Amino acid sequence: MTKTSVSSGTETKAPPKKAGKLKWVGIGLGALIGAAALFMATKSPAARPAPDLKADSTPAAVERGQYLFEHQLGCGECHTERDWTRYGGPAKGALGGGTASCWGEGYGLPGEVCFPNLTSGKGGLKDWSDGEIARAIREGVDKDGQVLFPLMPYENYQVLSDADVTAVIAYLRSLPPVDAERPKTHIDFPVSFFIKFAPKPLSGPVPEPNRGDPIALGKYLTTVAGCQSCHSQVDKEHQPIPGFEFAGGQLFAGPWGKVRSANLTPDPETGLNLSEAQFVQKFTSHADPSVQRAVDPAQNTAMPWLAYSKMREPDLKAIYAFLKTVKPVKNQVETRPQ
Ligand code: HEC
Ligand code: HEC
Repeated sequence: MTKTSVSSGTETKAPPKKAGKLKWVGIGLGALIGAAALFMATKSPAARPAPDLKADSTPAAVERGQYLFEHQLGCGECHTERDWTRYGGPAKGALGGGTASCWGEGYGLPGEVCFPNLTSGKGGLKDWSDGEIARAIREGVDKDGQVLFPLMPYENYQVLSDADVTAVIAYLRSLPPVDAERPKTHIDFPVSFFIKFAPKPLSGPVPEPNRGDPIALGKYLTTVAGCQSCHSQVDKEHQPIPGFEFAGGQLFAGPWGKVRSANLTPDPETGLNLSEAQFVQKFTSHADPSVQRAVDPAQNTAMPWLAYSKMREPDLKAIYAFLKTVKPVKNQVETRPQ
């Protein structure tokens, strides 16, 4: 490194004073890089103390939480082992028991992301307070304040009302305990550093959406159910491309094959052209068990049809009403690219 100004024979003309200065600059720079690396390795994500929330364990809360977990928020899509040899990837194994597995390169991930056990069994959430669980779901840090890889869609759940998040927790607390210690998630550098900026602490209570207004409710549901994040086009860093909200085209490659999300905007030529009744029927028809036929895994789908097939009609209608209000975007999507 010092070769350029000091020891290289051809550079002897350089005044010694300047060489000395350069050396210090060199050391300064080295120290700076060292400090930056240390900072990068140790930086903690933004987090607040766990909020003082309490899940109420009444049967009504548990039932509401189960509906949210299984049919509306997609939690079961990831936190339950799935059978990708059948259409829609029906659940196998214990609900919330973790998939006992990790997703890695086969899912296009920079490392290995392992699914935690959400029951109160060994390796699960027994020692977590309700507030710590709520903070993980909506604010993206674990019990110790460490970042959760944003495959866990806490950004979508940020708007989840206190009533909904505590109902989900009531449901988790009601699950039969499963003992399953998961392997540790490992994310490659530099992604391991950048994800530390993903968690965003909330600053207070999160109110209910206006459930009497279908468009407001639909907006809430398309956010928390992940419709918007899957049905919007993203760039290489997986950031949504402005102007392409709900316009489809995002590629999902995994054990379900290669499939792109559809355009859900009301563009007359390339968007969603279903009547309200057809839209509702498209979802509810997937509740028929015959849908879960054996399928070539490459011909499967990443769209959570089975989970959403039991979404209630007023919720589906609210989603439809909201989708009618989004900006039409012309974007022809071939959902099954060759
Ligand atoms: C798209 C997949 C996906 C969905 C949907 C999802 N999660 Fe997760 N979740 C994950 C992954 C992956 C992790 C672990 C991240 C890591 O290891 O950094 C995680 C972590 C968690 C944690 C932290 C547990 C721990 O031990 O660190 C909790 C609690 C949790 N999820 C609850 C939920 C709930 C409740 C829902 C629904 C509201 C949900 N998740 C939806 C993928 C998902
Ligand atoms: C994990 C990503 C993901 C999530 C979450 C998701 N979708 Fe999809 N969706 C897809 C993909 C991929 C397709 C295309 C493949 C298919 O039709 O099965 C699709 C297809 C569709 C279609 C069929 C369109 C057509 O023209 O055939 C509709 C309607 C739809 N999604 C609506 C929704 C709504 C509403 C939500 C939220 C409640 C949602 N999706 C959530 C990935 C997703």
